[in-house]
Amino acid sequence: MHVLVLGSAAGGGFPQWNCNCHNCHGLRHGEIKTRARTQSSIAISSDGERWLLCNASPDIRAQIAANQELHPRHGPRDTGIAGVLLVDGQIDHVTGLLSLREGCPLDVWCTPNVHQDLSTGFPLFPMLEHWQGGLRWQPIGVDADHSTARFTVAPCPGLVFTAVALTSNAPPYSPRRGAPTAGDNIGLYIEDTVKGTSLFYAPGLGEFDDPLRARLADADSVLVDGTLWHDDELPRAGVGQATGQDMGHLALAAPQGLLSELDALPRSTRRILIHINNTNPILDEASPQRAELEARGIDVAYDGMRLEV
Ligand code: MLT
Ligand code: MN
Ligand code: ZN
Repeated sequence: MHVLVLGSAAGGGFPQWNCNCHNCHGLRHGEIKTRARTQSSIAISSDGERWLLCNASPDIRAQIAANQELHPRHGPRDTGIAGVLLVDGQIDHVTGLLSLREGCPLDVWCTPNVHQDLSTGFPLFPMLEHWQGGLRWQPIGVDADHSTARFTVAPCPGLVFTAVALTSNAPPYSPRRGAPTAGDNIGLYIEDTVKGTSLFYAPGLGEFDDPLRARLADADSVLVDGTLWHDDELPRAGVGQATGQDMGHLALAAPQGLLSELDALPRSTRRILIHINNTNPILDEASPQRAELEARGIDVAYDGMRLEV
């Protein structure tokens, strides 16, 4: 399977428009070694022609422009985007649907929880009905035991998807904010049945349990939540009150943080962090935290990164 990283930053992007934290300031003024990043989205394809967007970021217009695989090729109106799959209903993952309105009707795979939030608190589904039939919901079933909700997606022949229920958080406009249920956040375990390879993708991961550990250990490559280094990173930087736990993102360095989980994977697993918040010290390529990742064999995704799994 082919994977394009369209956007590797968390909500807000890097630099964030109103943020003057060490990293955002340092990037704007050329004072740190780093690169700008747009908001969280990847695209997946089995044939290199038809691409499934996993999440539609507010930065989608620039992301499409930057990736010729997604450009029109045949006829007066065309796109490489054959559908959109949402792993949650958060603003940084869904707002790009508004910018795809000229391409409706559009198939959108998401869970019943996400469909409900996008029909009420953030009503993208009813709004976009006014554009050529809007978004055609393709329901994803979720099993909380991390195992059985397998499905295929027409534009990606040869790939089999498993929706893995994760504990993270529901968006602020959801009635389940603070008390998420199975289906508010999923990870994707994607198998290439032709090559016999697999990818686990989870930009929002708040908690681990043994079935989830087993799922990660089965994947050849993991592309997972690198939002925060410290759980209290936003208060430390003076840019907010929310902790990683509040937002549903397990910090990398916390005791029993994500780094310890990645350390426990087989040596052969390719480990990549994505959905990096602009406050995270790993964005500074000269930081000790970045050196710590390098020593552990963990990569940091960047916009335009291409993976073959
Ligand atoms: C998250 O990942 O927790 C959200 O996308 C935060 C946000 O609203 O940007
Ligand atoms: Mn997010
Ligand atoms: Zn910042």
